[in-house]
Amino acid sequence: MEPGGPVWAVVVAAGSGERFGARKQYAALADRRVLDWSLAAARRSTDGVVLVVPPDRAGDDEPVDAVVTGGATRSASVRAGLAAVPPDAAVVVVHDAARPAASAALFEAVIAAVRAGADGAVPGVPVVDTIKRVHDGRVVETLDRRELVAVQTPQAFRASVLRAAHAGGGDATDDGALVESAGGRVVIVPGDPDNVKVTSRADLDRLAAVVA
Ligand code: CTP
Ligand code: MG
Repeated sequence: MEPGGPVWAVVVAAGSGERFGARKQYAALADRRVLDWSLAAARRSTDGVVLVVPPDRAGDDEPVDAVVTGGATRSASVRAGLAAVPPDAAVVVVHDAARPAASAALFEAVIAAVRAGADGAVPGVPVVDTIKRVHDGRVVETLDRRELVAVQTPQAFRASVLRAAHAGGGDATDDGALVESAGGRVVIVPGDPDNVKVTSRADLDRLAAVVA
């Protein structure tokens, strides 16, 4: 059965931005907040948007269908958002508020892959550095770069599959990982090297050039 019904987005913005030194999702990027850029692409490509925010921002007026309070981890925040997605949603796209340069085309690409039958679709870009597994300062293994991709958001899933993957309350750095562990078929679509996640202050300078 192909998921032909409504598409909803969950945009997670409940992090504390420890590495950045502030809640980066509320920092300014060009003439708006980082968050506004992330929401704009989500709104263009979906039928509804749930925004997940820190507890003290739950009363803010935001241009979305629902604002909910997040949790202590990214996965807990996604679960809080998912609980506010209407039951008739067929596809759910999860997006980090901290990725303001994600294009509507990228949203549409991951959604299309799920509509075509995948359980999940995530954007991946080739890894340019050689990656080694390290333990206590010593290299344990050098991985084959040709088999590696760096993964971004937005990530799209069949709604039922994502809900089931989160039902166990697991914790992972992305939603793809939870769906993979649950046995789901997650495919890679070409990511965008400009779709930078704000992690440190320097990323904002780079993103200012991207959105200009
Ligand atoms: N996020 C969230 N709830 C959390 C943790 C993270 O909604 N408890 C969101 C962040 O707001 C961000 C996205 O998940 O949009 C990706 O997380 P990350 O880049 O790690 O942001 P922070 O957790 O805020 O940053 P840091 O890890 O440096 O503290
Ligand atoms: Mg974090």
